[in-house]
Amino acid sequence: MMKDLGPHGYVEDRSPGSGRLRPRAAFVSDLPAIALDGNWRFRLASGLDDLTGDFAAPDFDDSAWDLLAVPSCWQMAGLPGEPRYGAPAYTNILYPFPVDPPRVPRQNPTGEYRRVFEVPDGFPAADAVLRFEGVDSAFAVWLNGIRLGDGKGSRLTTEFDVCDVLRPGRNVLAVRVHQWSSGSYLEDQDMWWLSGIFRSVSVAACGVRDFFVHAAYDHTTGQGTLAVDVTAPTPVSLSVPELGISGADPAGPHVIDGVEPWSDEKPRLYSGELVSEAGERIPLRIGFRTVAVVDGVLTVNGRPISLRGVNRHEWHPLTGRTLAEDVMLADVVLMKQHNINAVRTSHYPPDRRFLDLCDEHGLWVFCEGDLETHGFEPGGWRHNPSDDPAWREAILDRTERLVERDKNHPSVIVWSLGNESGTGANLAAAAVWIRDRDRSRLIHYEGDYRSCAYVDLYSQMYIGLDALAAVGRGQEPPTADPADDAHRRALPAVLCEYGHAMGTGPGGLSEYQQIIEAHPRLAGGFIWEWIDHGIARLSGRAESEFFYAYGGDFGEEVHDGNFVADGLLFPDRTPSPGLIEFKKVIEPVRIHIDPTARQISVHNLHHVRDTSYLAFQWSVEDGGEAVGSGGLTVPATAPGERTAVGWPADLTAALDAARKEGSGQEVWLTLTAVLAADETWASAGHEIAWSQGLVAASAAPAAFTRAPAITRDRDIAVGRSRFDARSGQLIRLGDLDLDGPRLDVWRAPIDNDLLNAFGEPQVSAWLAAGLHRMRHDVLGVEPDASGVTVTARLAAAGSSSGLDVVYRWSAGVGPEAGRNRLRLETTVTPDGAWPAPLPRLGISLSLPGDDADVEWFGLGPGEAYRDARAGARVGRHRSTVTAMQTPYVRPQENGNRHLVRHARITTPDGSLCITGDPVIDLTVRPWSTAALTAAAHPYELVRDGRLHLHLDHAHHGLGSAACGPGPSAPHVLAAVPTVFSVEFSTSR
Ligand code: GAL
Repeated sequence: MMKDLGPHGYVEDRSPGSGRLRPRAAFVSDLPAIALDGNWRFRLASGLDDLTGDFAAPDFDDSAWDLLAVPSCWQMAGLPGEPRYGAPAYTNILYPFPVDPPRVPRQNPTGEYRRVFEVPDGFPAADAVLRFEGVDSAFAVWLNGIRLGDGKGSRLTTEFDVCDVLRPGRNVLAVRVHQWSSGSYLEDQDMWWLSGIFRSVSVAACGVRDFFVHAAYDHTTGQGTLAVDVTAPTPVSLSVPELGISGADPAGPHVIDGVEPWSDEKPRLYSGELVSEAGERIPLRIGFRTVAVVDGVLTVNGRPISLRGVNRHEWHPLTGRTLAEDVMLADVVLMKQHNINAVRTSHYPPDRRFLDLCDEHGLWVFCEGDLETHGFEPGGWRHNPSDDPAWREAILDRTERLVERDKNHPSVIVWSLGNESGTGANLAAAAVWIRDRDRSRLIHYEGDYRSCAYVDLYSQMYIGLDALAAVGRGQEPPTADPADDAHRRALPAVLCEYGHAMGTGPGGLSEYQQIIEAHPRLAGGFIWEWIDHGIARLSGRAESEFFYAYGGDFGEEVHDGNFVADGLLFPDRTPSPGLIEFKKVIEPVRIHIDPTARQISVHNLHHVRDTSYLAFQWSVEDGGEAVGSGGLTVPATAPGERTAVGWPADLTAALDAARKEGSGQEVWLTLTAVLAADETWASAGHEIAWSQGLVAASAAPAAFTRAPAITRDRDIAVGRSRFDARSGQLIRLGDLDLDGPRLDVWRAPIDNDLLNAFGEPQVSAWLAAGLHRMRHDVLGVEPDASGVTVTARLAAAGSSSGLDVVYRWSAGVGPEAGRNRLRLETTVTPDGAWPAPLPRLGISLSLPGDDADVEWFGLGPGEAYRDARAGARVGRHRSTVTAMQTPYVRPQENGNRHLVRHARITTPDGSLCITGDPVIDLTVRPWSTAALTAAAHPYELVRDGRLHLHLDHAHHGLGSAACGPGPSAPHVLAAVPTVFSVEFSTSR
């Protein structure tokens, strides 16, 4: 028997809604409006069988109902404590209900909302609309007991005509919101499932219905052409005083000489106004720009653009997908501050105010439709709405609402049909509709990458370096249809997603960027993704201690764990090391230092900006201590150009002095390019680009005379060091108690080790080889006249392969060894089969302590790994063990300091100094690797009273295999015979 939903049939039918007004542009006017945001009465029904029959009646008594904020997501209420209404649930691909379209479960949590509001006398109720900017997922609306209609399309605006129903004085709005609906099948984006009226609601007087600003720029003449199509009941005039347009016919076209075009770098907006004969005034912000594909290259205003972008979901750890305007502004400002110039609004149109901010501060936008049907893929795309005529209206409706709402934003240069919805006639129809409506922008849809039949960009996600380079060269494999092939080969290419920023990493961003910059066809791309969608929750352990929850933390039946935490920002919007890396990799100005020629060259990669907005500064550090700094005059360099300048006299003098009277340590020249004046998104002095050059290498360390080993009862003394005579372990160095070091190859797997969207995760081979349970067996301890030799084998139970290791210890005697210098040379020889790379290759040791000050000379200040080290610079850095832990939402290997020349770890018991030969990777933690491996959330990590040190010869690269390629060949850590050395001492 078919389920009969009676009056609630709209929940499951495929229609996009009923009773709604035609979609139109989002704009503000000076006509009165009543904001309905605030506390509403709320009741959560468990499903259609549990509804409140007369809840829409104006006199219904709702005084016993709860109060819930509108806008908000109801599952977020109560957090960071216990969720009050249902709970958030996370899946990436799978629908969290049986796939039986368009039906959804009868147990369908349904929010009943009521709001009483006053309409002041004089409010033009006869021309008013009721506007919902975002309701997830389907809803029906009653005003004063009269049903206005229903809607779907969660991230799209829905408007109802209320002119016959709205009245002066008391009005009662009742809205029923269903968590699941046929629309849920079109909204399978990789994110938390959240419900409710999550964007603003208002009643607004309506005069001018709609308008479409066409503002093109002709780079050959410098002319702008402005035409505004207006739909209004009375005549409307256009004024743009700056352009000499006053009271003109909006349709024009108005051709203006010498306009300044809009771009991400110079977001020039002209203020204008539409004024209707009825007296309504609508402010306009007009940006002139022309998007075109020229010879297969993506251009704006006649110049190629390179997208240095991110995919942005709307997220806040306490409010979910409801964002306050200051949060949107924070996103835009953080993007601009990190050299990001483009956003893909994955995978739905954002809050309309976000696009205003993009117009204002300058970001290229790929504005994406609210569409994803990924959950049909596991079923072989059977019943996929994208290709089913029954869903055509729903899909076209979403496309129209996307374009109509956001069509007046100069920042929007591309319409994206949606994400991961397979292919099909409905998508093709959506593209046809857009082309007909708006020829000024390009059409994007990645899911059609095989044919690209209905798109204007060849878009792919997560492809590897070789495949990307092949696309750049125009040598991608052919499509099935020759006509499609010819079309696709003529298209610019973009990476709509790459550099999956999940957990530690991503690695390889520099490699991607090099390829992007080498091929004009490659228009750049968008990192996946901007922010971790962690949800703040109390740990319940210590008062007000909270953590960021991910999939499974709310007891979901099906979920995808921490795949939801894959952003460049941590949930609280703190930049992760990945963002620091990305900022450096995409810097729009490249500075190159040539110490031999004593020259600096500047390469301007901007689209339109010359370098005169930057101030260049130099500083010189000797062994990490500043010895001089000053300004550098670089002539304004045009976009695409390079300028070389010689070193200024004060820099040369500082370097010569450092060389002559220097410390014998490395001398580094650092150049920075900072904002010369305030921008809307950062203050003067904000750094845009930097570079370093080694101008003097360090002197070779003094050799020392080796002390003989003296064997006593249970230990062996070498200089001021003590070794356990049986285990060969170093137990004391000077006055410091130590334990270790031992060869160590295991790292707490990073997400890119644990997951692989396209194959076998790296960790499988590691676990099969037993790398997480290696046993260290000492085979011999041999003291001699110049030190101690310890031989051992690191191998796993059941495995016939092992790593043979020889530790050769020597300590210094004589005056030059006053620092208790103790040298360890470690020789590793793999024995047997080692088909997989090693996670790491180094030694680990521990010493007593909860925390320590750490100072090091090497890359910093943040973590860096071999394939994610562009953002770290050589210098003397100071931190603490606590601060050196990177708070990934799921604990994993983190916090490595790369290419460390020397370090000092100071505990209350004394200082341990470490010197690389010449460099070593350094990690210090207040917990063991085993504890880090076992923890699912940061609060589960408990200090164990020891400081765990890793001194690594090398790490396996990070890559981005969780969704994308693993580390590239140069960053794979093969098990091969290796010798590395490190020196310990107790003071420097
Ligand atoms: C892509 C998808 C994104 C996200 C990402 C992995 O396939 O478009 O929405 O799921 O993978 O994090």
